[in-house]
Amino acid sequence: MQSNSEDRLPANRAVITGCGSFVPAKTLTNDDLSKMVDTSDEWIVTRTGIKVRHVTSDEETTAYLATEAAKRALEYARYSAEDIELIVVATITPEMVFPSTACFVQNAIGAKKAWAFDVSAACSGFVYSLHMVQQMMESGRLNSALVIGAETLTKITNWKDRTSCILFGDGAGAVLLQRKQDAGRGILYSTMGADGSAWESLNCRAHGSRHPARKPLEDPDMIFMQIKGREVYQQAVRRIVESVTDCLTHCNLTLDDVDMFISHQMNARIIESAAKRLNLPDEKVFVNIQNYGNTSAASVPIAFDECMRQGRVKKGDIIVFVAFGAGATWGANVIEL
Ligand code: UT7
Repeated sequence: MQSNSEDRLPANRAVITGCGSFVPAKTLTNDDLSKMVDTSDEWIVTRTGIKVRHVTSDEETTAYLATEAAKRALEYARYSAEDIELIVVATITPEMVFPSTACFVQNAIGAKKAWAFDVSAACSGFVYSLHMVQQMMESGRLNSALVIGAETLTKITNWKDRTSCILFGDGAGAVLLQRKQDAGRGILYSTMGADGSAWESLNCRAHGSRHPARKPLEDPDMIFMQIKGREVYQQAVRRIVESVTDCLTHCNLTLDDVDMFISHQMNARIIESAAKRLNLPDEKVFVNIQNYGNTSAASVPIAFDECMRQGRVKKGDIIVFVAFGAGATWGANVIEL
């Protein structure tokens, strides 16, 4: 089930040269939610670590969030949109069924030279996309790419289901990657995996080919996300620990070498539990779920952007991205900044 990069050290490296993020202005607190469903601030904070999440208006779409994050990443890197060769948007809440959200971003930022497509791997979409771009850059065929994680999960949230509606938020994060020769740094290694037998733990069933929009749904709630939280929780900790360990081993690195652990922000307890098993001290574990909730594919790039802008990481640091999500899918990237 695991597919790994080759063991050689390539001359071409995918180096992150810019980052940016964007969240909608409107927020929803735990107290707001306690007026909508039978829950409390105390339950949500204790069980998930979440205090507030950002919520899009009807006018704010996934492509809009992705575009704003992309613009910030380009500004950070002082890089022209016209020079970008590829745009990948990781999302499970795309602008439309088709065309891809990435095409909307390409048009909005004027990236005339870029080819563009979306990746659907739920919360692992961003780490999956980085792995793909890493391979393309190491082969020497790709010079620059924008990888964006963007989600409007609150548009498929069931506000009557207290087991899921407290978890999710909207936002986008982006990184610019550039191929550098003999840089010695960049994405060092990635490990990805999937287990499709676990699809029932977390999904949104309506409006695909199995339940097309024109057919009446047997259950109207199929238009919303449905989760079996406990099942996801248990799998997540195990897969996160496995992926990170595997990745570091292939890089001949140990956990002592890691300067910052940036996990998908799905639940503060899951992150803490995985970090504890990996023996990582608190100061090397980045957590911002309290401010955003779970933003699926957007959570790792939003966290990375905050980390960079807060000066928590610097050039030469070893950082780890890791995610687990619907599918089930999971993956980790080890990066020398
Ligand atoms: O990124 C991938 C997507 N993320 C996930 O799938 C999330 C992964 N799972 C989780 O984060 C956790 O499993 C949850 C936060 C969803 C739930 O936490 P838990 O500690 O696993 O709670 P539980 O589901 O075992 O429920 C415990 C109790 C239940 O009541 P009983 O049966 O013990 O009486 C639930 O009905 O808590 C109840 N409960 C709530 N109570 C107040 C469930 N949701 C709520 C709520 N407020 N919002």
